[in-house]
Amino acid sequence: NKKYTIAVLPGDGIGTEVTPVAVEALRLAGSLEGIDFEFKEMLVGGAAYEATGVPFPEETLKASLESDAVYLGAVGITKKMPSSDHLPKHLRPEVGLMRIRRALGVYANLRPITVFPQLLEASSLKRSVTEEVDFMIIRELAGGLYYGKPRGFGINEKGEETGFCTEIYSSSEVDRVARIAFDMAMERRGKVCSVDKATILESSRLWRKRVTIMSEEYPEVDLSHMLVDTSGMELIRYPKQFDVLLTTNVFGDILSDVSAMITGGIGMLPSACIGGPGPQLFEPVHGSAPDIEGEDVANPLAAVLTAVMLLRYGLKEEAVAKRIENAIFDTLNEGFRTRDISTPGAKIVGCKKMGEEILKSLYVRVPSY
Ligand code: NAD
Ligand code: IPM
Ligand code: MN
Repeated sequence: NKKYTIAVLPGDGIGTEVTPVAVEALRLAGSLEGIDFEFKEMLVGGAAYEATGVPFPEETLKASLESDAVYLGAVGITKKMPSSDHLPKHLRPEVGLMRIRRALGVYANLRPITVFPQLLEASSLKRSVTEEVDFMIIRELAGGLYYGKPRGFGINEKGEETGFCTEIYSSSEVDRVARIAFDMAMERRGKVCSVDKATILESSRLWRKRVTIMSEEYPEVDLSHMLVDTSGMELIRYPKQFDVLLTTNVFGDILSDVSAMITGGIGMLPSACIGGPGPQLFEPVHGSAPDIEGEDVANPLAAVLTAVMLLRYGLKEEAVAKRIENAIFDTLNEGFRTRDISTPGAKIVGCKKMGEEILKSLYVRVPSY
């Protein structure tokens, strides 16, 4: 059998509830295709801070670098640690996430927005708006407002306290993520919409200029530019217009949560962080969700779809990826839903039960296709 080592970092809150579901789906789907996974469970975020005093321990870094792919559940506040405001900023749970992204050198975050036909009634938007929506947000992940310097706290001329961050992009930072977007459009419907705020921000003017230059290498791709405020509106008005939506780190963070509602909710969104020289990173888009933690009601589909992305974009094991995808489809066809994506007449189940039904679909209901 082929063997892969996966570093598994469940993290905090519902991260620890949804990750086992993804791991079991990987294990079973892999075994059905003659693939063995070795899962190395490591600490990250608040859980790591509690156990070791830091949110991103050396051992986690080492195991991640030595793996074939890294799977991260979620980091963040929990019922036990409802705020991290008392911590110095380098000890906050979210630092675990920022560090692992940096350490792996991943700079493009793929966030597919795909509507399952079974879940049309789960969205807060009308069926006519969401039906057949299928686009890919490509969020720049290694630069921009999240990392720019100078940043910090200060005092202004009036003696007031200030807080400041810098959005800075270099041409090579824009080029490398834009290339991923154009390449992806070539495999899809041939459209890139680049979202920025070029009317006001210099960082966005450079962004738009470099994306435009890059488009000359892709004459088959239809490039458009959209201002970020307009894009928030257009995503809700007529999301079918989008194929590949390329944007900056901070805009991508916001627009992916907006887009989540097209699909039924944040519990549906997986992501892949790619572009690094070594193992790539895979994480659901949602956080630790302290409001529902420990109740076995979290939707594990974002996590399981993240496992699909790990197989597809990380290990290039398309057959295994398809198997899990089909099992999810089948489980939804059987009427199983977690509470957040409930539809009329559905069978509402918890996180664990949803996981069991996916395994059942993998093994019993759709053993082959
Ligand atoms: P969140 O994504 O944790 O939760 C937002 C809302 O969505 C909550 O009402 C939650 O119950 C719901 N939700 C999220 N995932 C769900 C799922 N799988 N099934 C059903 N409902 C789900 O965002 P937040 O509450 O703003 O942040 C909580 C913590 O998580 C913060 O510390 C934040 O920094 C962190 N966070 C981490 C990540 C990550 O690890 N990738 C992402 C976002 C937020
Ligand atoms: C996400 C999260 C993170 C981000 C936070 C937790 C640092 O919101 O992955 O979308 O903003 O990148
Ligand atoms: Mn986010």
